[in-house]
Amino acid sequence: MSTSRTHRTHILFVCLGNICRSPLAEGVFRDVLEKDGLADSFHVDSAGTGAYHVGEPADPRSLQVARDHGVTLDGKARKVEPDDLDRFDHIVAMDRDNLRNLEAMKERHGGKAQLHLLREFDPEAHEGDLEVPDPYYGGPDGFQAVYSMIHRSCKELLQRMDSDPPRER
Ligand code: 4NP
Repeated sequence: MSTSRTHRTHILFVCLGNICRSPLAEGVFRDVLEKDGLADSFHVDSAGTGAYHVGEPADPRSLQVARDHGVTLDGKARKVEPDDLDRFDHIVAMDRDNLRNLEAMKERHGGKAQLHLLREFDPEAHEGDLEVPDPYYGGPDGFQAVYSMIHRSCKELLQRMDSDPPRER
C-alpha cells in the first residue's frame, strides 16, 4: 500500500438489519487490515437499509462465528443515511435488495460513493450468484458459510483497493 496516502479510504458495509452480515463484514475487513498493518489507511463502518434493529449489538450468532475466528464485533446497528453517500468512498452491499435500495437513495440524493456487491470480490463466486445470503432465519451453519464468503471477499477487496481500485458496476 502506498505510504503517500493522505485520504483515508472510507468503506461502509451494508445489509438489511445491520446485525448479522454487515457487522461481520466490518469486523472481518478491519481484522484483515490490522493483520496487514493498514488499519490507519481506512475508515470502516456498517449500516442497514432497515431500521428494525437500530441500537442493537450484532446478532449472537454473528458474534459467535466472529469470536471463533478471533474477530471482535463491537458496533451497534444503525440505518444508512443519505449523508453516507457523501461520507464514504465505497459502499459495499451484501445482496441485490440492499444494492437496489442504495441505488435509489443515490438517485434521489446524489453522492460520490461507489456502490458494489461484496461478492463481486469473492474469488469463488459465480457471476449469477453474487449475494451473501441472509442467515437470520437459519442455523449456525449458515453463519459459518456467510463468514467464509465474507472473509474471502474482504481479502480480495483489500488487494483490489491497492492494485486496481474497484469501480461501480
Ligand atoms: P442482516 O440480517 O440483514 O444480515 O442483519 C437480518 C437481520 C434481521 C432481519 C432480517 C435480516 N429482520 O427481519 O429482522
